[in-house]
Amino acid sequence: MPRRFAVLPVGGLSLAFLMPLCARAEPSAAFASPGLTARADALLARMTLEEKAGQLNQLSAATLITGPGHEAGNNDELIKGGLVGAILNSATAHETNAYQKEAVGQSRLRIPILFGLDVIHGFRTLFPIPLGISASWDTGLVERTARFAAVEASQQGVRWTFGPMVDIARDPRWGRIAEGAGEDPWLGSAIARAYVLGYQGSGLDDSSSIVACAKHFVGYGAAEGGREYNTTEVSERTLRQVYLPPFRAAVDAGVGSVMSAFNSINGVPASANALTLTQVLRREWKFEGFVDSDWAAVREIMVHGIANDERTAARKGILAGVDMDMEGRLYGKELPGLVRSGDVPMERLNEAVRRVLRIKLSLGLFEHPYVQEPAVPADPGEGRVLARRAAEESLVLLENRPLKGAPLLPLSASSGKRIALIGPLADSAADMLGSWSCEGRPRDVVTLRSALADRAAAEGMTLSYAKGTDIEGGSETGFAGAVEAARQSQVAILALGESGHSSGEASSRSRLDLPGNQEELLEAVVKTGTPVVLIVFSGRPLATPWAARHAQALLLAWFPGIEAGPALVRTLFGDSEPGGRLTVSVPRSVGQVPIYYNALNSGRPRADPVAAGAPKPGDHYVNGYLDEESTPLYPFGHGLAYTDFSYSAVHPDATQMSARSINEGKARLSVGADVRNTGPRDGTEIVQLYIRLRGTSVARPVRELKGFRRVRLAAGEARRVDFSLGRDELAFWNIDMKNVVEPCSLYIWIAPDSARGTPARVDITP
Ligand code: NOJ
Repeated sequence: MPRRFAVLPVGGLSLAFLMPLCARAEPSAAFASPGLTARADALLARMTLEEKAGQLNQLSAATLITGPGHEAGNNDELIKGGLVGAILNSATAHETNAYQKEAVGQSRLRIPILFGLDVIHGFRTLFPIPLGISASWDTGLVERTARFAAVEASQQGVRWTFGPMVDIARDPRWGRIAEGAGEDPWLGSAIARAYVLGYQGSGLDDSSSIVACAKHFVGYGAAEGGREYNTTEVSERTLRQVYLPPFRAAVDAGVGSVMSAFNSINGVPASANALTLTQVLRREWKFEGFVDSDWAAVREIMVHGIANDERTAARKGILAGVDMDMEGRLYGKELPGLVRSGDVPMERLNEAVRRVLRIKLSLGLFEHPYVQEPAVPADPGEGRVLARRAAEESLVLLENRPLKGAPLLPLSASSGKRIALIGPLADSAADMLGSWSCEGRPRDVVTLRSALADRAAAEGMTLSYAKGTDIEGGSETGFAGAVEAARQSQVAILALGESGHSSGEASSRSRLDLPGNQEELLEAVVKTGTPVVLIVFSGRPLATPWAARHAQALLLAWFPGIEAGPALVRTLFGDSEPGGRLTVSVPRSVGQVPIYYNALNSGRPRADPVAAGAPKPGDHYVNGYLDEESTPLYPFGHGLAYTDFSYSAVHPDATQMSARSINEGKARLSVGADVRNTGPRDGTEIVQLYIRLRGTSVARPVRELKGFRRVRLAAGEARRVDFSLGRDELAFWNIDMKNVVEPCSLYIWIAPDSARGTPARVDITP
C-alpha cells in the first residue's frame, strides 16, 4: 500500500509531514458497518464457546514485559488452539509473522491475531513525550507525528497502539502526567482527536493505519496524592466535565478501542464500572469499538476487594463492559463456564467477540495477515525533520531576562563566543527518549552536547563541557570543573532535570525539585556571575522557584526525542523560536498540588475583580497558605516568544444572547481581538480564549479554555483573531445534571495565558 503523505513545499524546502495530510475518511465508526457486522456474525456462528473466549484473551509476548505477574505460559499452543485473540509487546515483523503463522496457519478458524504495542510518542523515530508535544498546541503536528509512528509500527505488523493516553492530570507528582496533554479538557480533547486521526489515518483498511486506544478509562489522573494506581474520588459532574471529554472526543473521532483503567472511581474499580463502561461509553456515546482492560486490571478486581475469586472477577469485568482481558488470563479460563451456567448471557459474549472481529476485519487482517520481512523502514530523514520540528514547537521559554538591555536569548555569535555546557542531561542520549521509548534507540539521538559542538565548530565558538554531577548523584567532585568552565565563558548553558524514567508508569514522585544535588550545582554556577541559560528536562513540571529567579533564561525541554540537540541549538541561537506554551500549571512547591487554572473560586478567593462580595486585597481570611502564594509559579498557557505581542480589548458581536437559542443551536456568539506583533522579529503566538460563567445553578471555574489558535505574525503585523461560542463551548452539567446553557453572565478573555487579560461581558438571558 503506498504511503499517503503530502510532500509540500514549506519555506523553500520540500518536507513531508509539515502540512496537513491528504484525503482522510470521515472519522466515523466504519468498523461497525452492516457489512462487517454480518461477516463477524457469520464467523461467530461457527465458533465454540472456547474460541469465542479466546478472541477476548490478550497475552503478552515474553520479549517485553510491561506489567507485573507475567506468566511465561505457552502462547504458541494457545494460539494454535484458537484461544488467543491479541498479543501485546511484539514489535518486529519477524515475531509478529511467526505468531500470525500459528494463528492463521494452524488454528481451526484461522482468525488472525491483532498485535498491540505502546506506541506512545513514536515507534522507532521518537518524538517529544506527549506532555511536551501538547505544549505545541498544534493539533496538526500531533496528527503528523502519530501518522509517522503508525507507518513505522504497521510495517512490523503492529496494527494497534495503546494510545493516546488522554487522562487529564492536575497533579505533577503522578508520573503519568508525562504521557498526556496536561490539565485542560478542551485542549486535551483537541489533542485526543488529533492522535486518533493520525494513528487511524484514512481508514483502518489502509495498511499503514493502526487502531488507536483511548486510555485509561477513566479518572486515572485523579489518583489521590499523585500516587500511581491510587484510588480516585471524582464527583459525577467533575467526571463528566473534566475527565470524560477527551475520551468523548476520541470516540467522536472514530477511535477503535478504549482501555479500562486500574483505579477505582468512587469505590468501583474502573474495569468493573458499568456506569462509565456501559452507561456513558455505550449508551450515551454509542461507542462501537471494543474495550480492552489495562494489564491484568480484570484480575485486580479481586485485589480491589469486590471479587473473592477469578470467576467473579471475570464475570464483573465482562458484565460491566470490558470486552478483552489484557494479560489477566481470566476470560479464556472463566467465560465459557460463566456462559454455560447462565451467569453471563451468550449475547454479551457474542457482542464482545463481534466488536473484536469487526476491528480485525476492518484492518484487512484476514486478507493480509502478514507483513513484509524484513520491513521496509519509513524514511528516517522525514522522521528526523518531523521530530526536530515537534521538539522545537514543544520547548517552553519561561524566563528570558535582559542582559545589557536585550533578552539573553536568542544567543548571538558575539554573546555566545565562549560557551560552557554543564549538567548531567547535556549528553545523555537515553534520557532524551523519555518513558515509553518503544523501539527508539539512544544511538538515534543527537544530544545537546553533540549538536552544540557541531555549531561551535562551524561558527568558531569555544565550547567547554562539564557534566558537573549525576542526575541523582550526591557527589560534588564535578562542581569545580563546572564552575571553572562557567568562569571562562560568556554564557553557561545548564542541562538539568529528571531522568527519562522518573516519569511514566509507576514513576510518581513525592518531591518536585531537581533531583540529587543539581540545584547546588546551579547555585555554584550562578555564583560565578556568568549568565545562565537553564534547560530543564523532565516529564512533569518541576517546582524550581530558586532556579526561576536566578537563571537568566529558563527553557522547559521535557524529553524532546531523537532531535533533542538540533532543536535546542536552533532555538538557543534563534534559527527557530521556542514554540510551546504550558499545558500544565507549574507549582511553586509540592504543597500547592493539585494546582490547576480552571479551579472553582471558593467563597474567599484572594482577589477577584469580577465576583461581588469577594475579600479585599490584604484580607486575612482568604483561601490559600500562610507560607506560600496561592498562584502557580507559571500559569497554564504561559510561554515567551522571541518577540512580543499585544492584545486589543475583546470584541463580542453582541452584548446579550438567549440561552434558549444557544441551546437549540440557533445562536452563536462571535468574539475577536486584534493581536499585534510589537517586537523585533516574526513570531508565532498561541492566542487563547477563556470564559467564565457567573450566576449559574452550580459554581463554574474562574476560567475555562474554550478556543485557541496558533497565529504567525510578521514583526509589526496585527491580525484580528476570531472565535465563535455556541452550545459546545457554553453548556455545562447543571444542578439537575443536564448539559445545558443557562442564563448567566458570560465573561470572555482573549489572552496570551490563563492569568492575563481583561474580560468582556455578555449577558445570557433566558
Ligand atoms: C499498563 C499501562 O497502564 C498501559 O498504559 C499500557 O498500555 C499497558 N500496561 C500495556 O503495556
